[in-house]
Amino acid sequence: MPTIAIIGGSGPEGRGLGLRFAIAGHPVILGSRDAQRAREAADGLLAIHAGIPVSGAMNADAASRADWVVLSVPYEGLRSTVTDLAPSLAGKMVISVVAPINFTDGNPRPVLVPEGSAAALTQSLLPESKVTSAFHNLSARELLKPDEMLHGDIIVNGDDRDARLATMRLAEDVKSLRGVDGGPLANARCVEEFTSLLLYINRTYKKRSTVKILGI
Ligand SMILES: NC(=O)c1ccc[n+]([C@@H]2O[C@H](COP(=O)([O-])OP(=O)(O)OC[C@H]3O[C@@H](n4cnc5c(N)ncnc54)[C@H](OP(=O)(O)O)[C@@H]3O)[C@@H](O)[C@H]2O)c1
Repeated sequence: MPTIAIIGGSGPEGRGLGLRFAIAGHPVILGSRDAQRAREAADGLLAIHAGIPVSGAMNADAASRADWVVLSVPYEGLRSTVTDLAPSLAGKMVISVVAPINFTDGNPRPVLVPEGSAAALTQSLLPESKVTSAFHNLSARELLKPDEMLHGDIIVNGDDRDARLATMRLAEDVKSLRGVDGGPLANARCVEEFTSLLLYINRTYKKRSTVKILGI
């Protein structure tokens, strides 16, 4: 199975995805800007689920050792992170889970990205990588509870069809998830922005909402 590095893997979303991918059997390297934080994140997942193939490393080391790389940093840090790691990401599939959202007035609001989406920005910075966009609508809290069944569809966008299909298969390696082909990166903004709406709904109804595409 392909080895997956998670850049920003010390955060809740990166740890949650890392846990689920490792349970599915993928070797996972949690990346961080700090080696100790990376090790602690990996140890934390091993405490949740002993024996899974997870380790921690500096972001650059994680990216260079992996086959596929997940970007799980805040939007504000995306450009500099991707620019620094570009040489290690060339030729690889890069999956963005970044949802550009701000909370300045207390409510979640989508941030308008000049390139169209965080994933499109990433692709523009990484012309030699195949960028896809996925997993935005999974909550870290649920990902980190391995006994909890996940619900919803993983809408995948990307300009390279093979990378899109590979990301959909990765989603389906996680029990009960379904990958849905969302087409090119031009559509990624719809999914990224929808995350802000789900956050608002979650807060209002004190529930975990998700996305399910009906009719297919
Ligand atoms: N949390 C969720 O439920 C959720 C759901 C869907 C999508 N997402 C998306 O997933 C991404 C990660 O979410 P999160 O909640 O895990 O975020 P987070 O905790 O704010 O950040 C994740 C990690 O990124 C690193 N980081 C923080 N600021 C950075 C910067 N300026 N430059 C480079 N690295 C930085 C930190 O790791 P080190 O300091 O160890 O390097 C941090 O632990 C976000 O883009 C978010 O929109 C989150």
